[in-house]
Amino acid sequence: MSLPTHVRIVEVGPRDGLQNEAQPISVADKVQLVDALTAAGLGYIEVGSFVSPKWVPQMAGSAEVFAQIQRKPGVVYGALAPNLRGFEDALAAGVKEVAVFAAASEAFSQRNINCSISESLERFVPIMDAARQHGVTVRGYVSCVLGCPYEGHVAPEQVARVARELYAMGCYEVSLGDTIGTGTAGATRKMFEVVSKDVPREKLAGHFHDTYGQAVANIYASLLEGISVFDSSIAGLGGCPYAKGASGNVATEDVVYLLNGLGIDTGIDLDTLMLAGQQICSVLGRPTGSRVAKARSAQ
Ligand code: HMG
Ligand code: MG
Repeated sequence: MSLPTHVRIVEVGPRDGLQNEAQPISVADKVQLVDALTAAGLGYIEVGSFVSPKWVPQMAGSAEVFAQIQRKPGVVYGALAPNLRGFEDALAAGVKEVAVFAAASEAFSQRNINCSISESLERFVPIMDAARQHGVTVRGYVSCVLGCPYEGHVAPEQVARVARELYAMGCYEVSLGDTIGTGTAGATRKMFEVVSKDVPREKLAGHFHDTYGQAVANIYASLLEGISVFDSSIAGLGGCPYAKGASGNVATEDVVYLLNGLGIDTGIDLDTLMLAGQQICSVLGRPTGSRVAKARSAQ
């Protein structure tokens, strides 16, 4: 399979990147991050989550963040919604695209959203109905596609089953998440091979956490499987509060560097992107998780 000429990057830093931060981050700092990402040319930014603040306190101010960001026409500003309550809050905040999130493992589903996989899928049906009614688009996530922190091995067929259900209920795209970053290039190829029998490749995205340092290799493996949408997080920020030890997503800077090297267009300016990364790292008081940003700043 030949490589794509264009890749769409879904920037999840303001959501997946920040959701696990223990220190409070102000609305102003979150807004500055989203605006800096817009300036870098990202076409999709996941801004926040409309989840229970008891479960993920850091995302509590998401409506205020949405109210203050400068929206650039053509850019999608998305948010997570785990249930109808979250969807309604997102709608009230002016959100035009939400993401629902399920898991390929029962134990992770229970820990993350307090219900079984099938209960979660049932919970999404009224979200899909309401979204259609309000002209809101819905993206789907499947977590633990290459391993679960509680159950270990996850069969690709199980990933396919959940992805197929999300696609059938109306998610226009399903992002497959290696939540704990244990996946390898071989396992990634196998997983996409199996899932793409049920969901067309052009409707699938890859979401790789970089815990084992495999994310860039896994993205390359996914490109070879015909996948052309990838989620990533500025400066490699993040982790999942319900997957202990999981590190951030692959850094957006590193993905853009990879794709630039392959001559694949992303519409993103790497230098402006690195400024966004520097800004948020200085807010957090922590070095960047991007290897590219580290190397460039050492020059
Ligand atoms: P629950 O406790 O079973 O829900 O949580 P409940 O319906 O019994 O409600 C409990 C309380 O939460 C009630 O308040 C509700 O009103 C409130 P109380 O009466 O106790 O004061 N509540 C809400 N508040 C605000 N917004 C809402 C909402 N819903 C209920 N939407 C629930 C179930 C799903 C709400 C909870 O488990 C939850 O919020 N989980 C979110 C977990 C999360 O955000 N995890 C991280 C994102 S997923 C991820 O990172 C993976 C991903 O990146 C892909 C990958 O890497 O694999 C996407
Ligand atoms: Mg994630």
